[in-house]
Amino acid sequence: MNEEAFWIRERVKAHNKWFEESLPMIASENLMSPLAKEMLISDFADRYAEGLPGKRYYQGNIYVDEVELKAIEMAKDLFQCSFADVRPISGTVANMAVLFAFAEPGDTITTCALAQGAHISTAKFGAFGLRSVESVNYPFNETDMNLDVDGTIKLLKEVRPKVAQFGLSVFLFPPPLKELEDTFHEIGCTVWYDAAHVFGLIAGGQFDDPLHKGVHVVSSSTHKTFPGPNHGMLLGNNLDEEQEKALYRAVFPGVTSSHHLHAMASLAITLAEEKVFGKEYALQTVRNARALGEALYERGINVLCPDLGFTRSHTLAVDVSAYGGGKIVAQDLENANIICNKNMLPKDTSAVRPSGIRLGVQELTRTGMKESEMVEVAELITRVCNKESPAKVKEDVKELKKGFTKIRYCFHEGEEAYRYHELV
Ligand SMILES: Cc1ncc(COP(=O)(O)O)c(C=O)c1O
Repeated sequence: MNEEAFWIRERVKAHNKWFEESLPMIASENLMSPLAKEMLISDFADRYAEGLPGKRYYQGNIYVDEVELKAIEMAKDLFQCSFADVRPISGTVANMAVLFAFAEPGDTITTCALAQGAHISTAKFGAFGLRSVESVNYPFNETDMNLDVDGTIKLLKEVRPKVAQFGLSVFLFPPPLKELEDTFHEIGCTVWYDAAHVFGLIAGGQFDDPLHKGVHVVSSSTHKTFPGPNHGMLLGNNLDEEQEKALYRAVFPGVTSSHHLHAMASLAITLAEEKVFGKEYALQTVRNARALGEALYERGINVLCPDLGFTRSHTLAVDVSAYGGGKIVAQDLENANIICNKNMLPKDTSAVRPSGIRLGVQELTRTGMKESEMVEVAELITRVCNKESPAKVKEDVKELKKGFTKIRYCFHEGEEAYRYHELV
């Protein structure tokens, strides 16, 4: 190993130690199970497969095909749907595939605005812009952090979009799909749901299931509440053969060549684990999020939607403008080893200096934390907001985290979550 390689390895080790001693609360991240992680250093990582199982362009895919077919079967079974493609290499790539399959440049897609919690791929400077589609934003009710139903029905009838898209990165409550279903039928649009944030909650039956409420296609990441590898997935119901073909073609050769076979195998392992542990994990995640919301609110922190129990997901949106705004608070929290991100709230116009932070509890839940630990976490966050020295709070964060460094809700429960493989 030369000096540079050694240095890089030491930095990665330092990162692992830091996260082991921290409270990671970025709502879009999670910890993989030891078995899922093992797949990432298998020989699958070094190989290529292009196309669909049984119809590859390269030889050498006998076992890859078997694993991919199993993953597809497990995905369809877990989500009770008729179509699954496990090849998109991320949530954004899955979104690109939907855009290429179902929209032409110039078509209109209805979606949420960034300040309402939408993902950057729906922006003009994101995937929507790259596909040159016109986007129109739904009316949003800030008090409920959800769509205004009457306004959305009116907008859909006026705009008659080619595709109606739903799903958020600050995803507190399920969108009112049932109330919109008749309108979807009336205007004949394709209904697309980006489930990246709540995929594991849907798998565990703890968040409204879009696939049985008129949605045609679901795109997702597989590493947020669904605790798998950095990868993506597409699911579908109510798709005709042409639409399924369009999605397959959009994934390959559209937006991928090979599809990160090691991650696909890791995803297959996570699907198997979710079948066994998914419900319990999703249930505890939502309970923890609501408990954290309550405990913060009791301490005077402005968590959004108190009248609705703060959230139905893993995420809380918190207005910290009274403490200097999201940028300052997120940095102070990082200095105390509490890792979260600044976030726009509906009233904000600047993404760089927003008034909010976003908190996710899915990773803390994965390490075994429950409601009582959420009260401790709320106390630590409140101390930082109230300008206690982050260095001092950090010591108490480390102390709390000492009891929560192992992985739960998977086959090898109890293995070290932040372990570093000694490879040489
Ligand atoms: C709603 C939503 N869609 C898509 C993505 C992108 O996923 P990925 O990072 O896997 O590309 C994210 C990422 O956080 C997201 O929040």
